[in-house]
Amino acid sequence: MALESKKIGYDEVIVRDLKFDLTDTTVNTHWFNNDPWSSHFMTAVLAVVPEAERWVLRSAREQMAKISDPAIKKAARDFIHQERIHAREHDIMNSILVKKGLPIDRFEEGFKKRRLWFQNKLSVEMQGAIAASFEHFTAVLSSAFLENPDVFEDTDPEIVSFLYWHFVEETEHKSVSFDVFVEACGGGSRAYFTRSIGMVLGTAIGASLLFSNLYMLVKEDKQLLNVKSALVMSYCVLIKPAILSKMLYHTPRYFLPNFHPWDDDNRNVIQPWKKEYDKSNDTHKAFIALKNWVLDRKNSGNKNLDNKKEAHSLTQPLHAVG
Ligand SMILES: [Fe+2]
Ligand SMILES: [Fe+2]
Repeated sequence: MALESKKIGYDEVIVRDLKFDLTDTTVNTHWFNNDPWSSHFMTAVLAVVPEAERWVLRSAREQMAKISDPAIKKAARDFIHQERIHAREHDIMNSILVKKGLPIDRFEEGFKKRRLWFQNKLSVEMQGAIAASFEHFTAVLSSAFLENPDVFEDTDPEIVSFLYWHFVEETEHKSVSFDVFVEACGGGSRAYFTRSIGMVLGTAIGASLLFSNLYMLVKEDKQLLNVKSALVMSYCVLIKPAILSKMLYHTPRYFLPNFHPWDDDNRNVIQPWKKEYDKSNDTHKAFIALKNWVLDRKNSGNKNLDNKKEAHSLTQPLHAVG
């Protein structure tokens, strides 16, 4: 097994085939706290989710033949299953937004063309490296929201429970795509340089899609001059939950030769959601449990939500670190 692979967290990956009540009434154009710019920023991200999910799951499937480690193989299968369900549910949300007049179908078509072009031109290895970079982005984005569940105060509860189910599962499997790539690539300096190039390509693809989607959404909604809403979005992406700030902080670390997704061990923050969901099968209650846990921690002055010792005590027995 490649030295970079650490099997921390594989026990966390659980497939939950959930369906959400996403309808014309629960999903509105300005669905994120009724704010135009923030909603369009989030929609610009969600617009690429189904295609990105299909790319990463296809990439894992194509690398599967080169994986000999049974633990990584099993985690990869569960990862593929999780991502397929995520894509299905996000397709529903996106199709509702299309019905509301947002041009997400055009964005998806454009991304699909790019994906197919890359799939024809790039090796399976390089696509595996791009997939690992995408999974790094989703893990960072998920951690930003998991640590700040109070930012959804004015968002429909069904959308909130839908998104938090996805944030939890993205955290559960945040190392799988990386480990699959490293294992299939054989580790060492070859894997390091390939994944570094993959991160550069992944950043270029992700950033260009995000900002062009955002511009088109804001423009077509005639919100370009809504400065107040632009400031609300700026606060959201830079201060709290600080999606872009976190991305800028965590992405350079990806270029360290010994980087691994579980260096940022945040398993503790998903445990309240998982425990409540296991008990009640209710994603709404699970979100409330997570939110209460985070707010209790913040109120008691313990802002370190990445406490590794606590993460170990809260989770199932771990696999050995490879
Ligand atoms: Fe996903
Ligand atoms: Fe994922």
